[in-house]
Formats: sequence, C-alpha cells, structure tokens
Amino acid sequence: MHNHRTTITQFLIEEQRHVTGATGDFTSLLNDIVTACKVISNYVNHGALIGVLGSLESENVQGETQKKLDVISNDVFLHSNDWAGHLAAMASEEMDDIYEIPAGYPRGKYLMTFDPLDGSSNSDVNVSVGTIFSILRCPPGVDKPTLQDFLQPGTQQICAGYALYGPSTVMVLTTGNGVNGFTLDQNIGEFILTHPKMRIPETTNEFAINMSNMRFWEPAITRYVEECLAGKTGTRGRDFNMRWIASMVAEVHRILTRGGVFMYPLDSKNLAQGGRLRLMYEANPMSFIVEQAGGASSTGRQRIMEVQPTGLHQRVPVILGSKDEVEQIISYYSAS
Ligand code: F6P
Repeated sequence: MHNHRTTITQFLIEEQRHVTGATGDFTSLLNDIVTACKVISNYVNHGALIGVLGSLESENVQGETQKKLDVISNDVFLHSNDWAGHLAAMASEEMDDIYEIPAGYPRGKYLMTFDPLDGSSNSDVNVSVGTIFSILRCPPGVDKPTLQDFLQPGTQQICAGYALYGPSTVMVLTTGNGVNGFTLDQNIGEFILTHPKMRIPETTNEFAINMSNMRFWEPAITRYVEECLAGKTGTRGRDFNMRWIASMVAEVHRILTRGGVFMYPLDSKNLAQGGRLRLMYEANPMSFIVEQAGGASSTGRQRIMEVQPTGLHQRVPVILGSKDEVEQIISYYSAS
C-alpha cells in the first residue's frame, strides 16, 4: 500500500487554511522560494561537473571575494521570485542596494531579504552550505519600497527559513507557528515533511565558536568557553564537546536537531563593524527559527529580534541555541 507522505506544497496549503483572509499569495511566494532552493541545490550537487566551483574576480558589498556559486544562487533567487507579483522588493547579502521588481511585473505586499549561499567558502571543499531567507510585510501604503522600508526589527518577520545543501537537501521553515523540516526527495523532486515540530533541547553539552578568535573575545565569552573546556573538573561539572563547521546554516541545523549553542560574538577584531554576521540575512531569520523551536537568541546584551536595524548590511553579535546555555552566557554579560 502507498505510504502517504506530506509534501511541502500540501503542508503549506493546509497551513494557509488556518489563516483567515489568506489569499494564497504567501503560499505561492513560498512555492517560488522552494523552487529556487531546488535549483540552487542542483547546482551545488553537481559542483565541479558543471564548472561552478571556485571564485570570481569580483567582491560583494561586504568586501568578500564572490564565489561563482554566490553569483549563480543570487541570480536564481532573484529571478525565481521577482515575476509572480508577491514581492514589492528584495534585498540580498550579495547586492549593495535593494532589488526593485522590474517594470512590467506586478508588485506585491511582501519584502524578502536573503543570503543566497551562506558559508559559500565551504562549497569548494564539499562541506555543507545553505540559503537563508526572511519575509517581512511591505509597510501599508508603500507602493515603491526603499531601503528604509526594510529596516524592521526581526520581531516583524512573518516567515523565515533556510535550505541546507548537505548529505540531503533539507528545508526548515517557520511562519511563527513552530518549526518544520522537509527533506528533498530527489527522485520525485519534492520536499517531504520529515522533521515536524522541531524543538531544541533546553540543555546541551555542545558549543560552537571559532576558537582562533579567542584572544579577541570579551570577558563573558572567555569565561563561558573556559568553563566548558574545564568540563567535569570545573564549575559546570560536565564535559562539553565542540564543533565549528563555519557554515551557519549547518550549525543551526545541528542545534535544531540535537541542541547546542552557537556563538559569533562581538570581539575586538569585529568591533568596528558591530559583529561578524549580518542582522537582516543571517541573525534575524535564524533567531526567529531558533526561538520558534524553543531556543533563545541574543547579542549577549539584547534579544536579536529586538535590535532596530539601521542599515541593510548591518552586522550583529550572535549567540543562539539551547535556552539554558544562552541564558547562562547572557548572565555572564550582565555580570561583567
Ligand atoms: O557569514 C558567513 C559564514 O560563513 C557563516 O555561515 C559562518 O558561521 C561564518 O561565516 C564563519 O566564520 P569564520 O570564517 O570566522 O569561521
């Protein structure tokens, strides 16, 4: 007998039925995002076979060398989502300015920010990379959005998600009603609900941080990591394990799956920029997902989703994951 499985399309349509007054616009937008992620997944999977690995001469607005896959993924995301009339504008980590919907296409009621291929330096070495996106409402009465219209705190997000291109391609989504994960079945070309109602365990024995930055850290982070390293014989009374994939999507997925804490804190090296990771493309969408799965997310001094953005490419310190550990770190910041 056929074993019925829930496709992402069915899941989205059933979710839509619970929203009074829903027009289907949002569901269609998510369908276009899903298509974009499938196309990017296909490029990432084929890698060297189709000549998409390696770098270009160009740099992005962050001053980082662009990978071929960064540019391809950005293009795929823009053109999968600009034509359908659901979005009023987009902003990408790879582009200086906002992307206006081309003349000739209708403009819709949503704004989207995205990082088309996060952790892309990992693609050349065949380690997991991912796409992150966040959807906001276009402010009422705004027909032609400007950069200012994007500068909404993370609490205003109506949806956030990521696609992880790892051993399997997985898509994880929240619309503010919990977190669900889907695995791409390559044979039928559909995402299937495989991780319903994801929850982050409150306690954990695993932390993730780039230890090579240790000498630049603030005292609260040094204290926390030293205590983890002291393990059973220290104040924490238990051993901790460490991971650093250098691919935020993969780290967040691990935390959603088995718990843990991820830190890219403020340090004396990234102080002038205000942190390392981007608020609009990485920190806010991941914070929304993590909070919806029962975890916590903070700069160490403030809930990330309450940070008022002042720039599209703004950076923030990020400490997210299992609630108990994030709270412990916050308490060290308050004490220092
Ligand atoms: O912002 C891009 C990113 O690759 C993240 O996905 C990742 O967490 C971080 O940078 C890795 O930073 P580092 O190069 O310091 O390890």
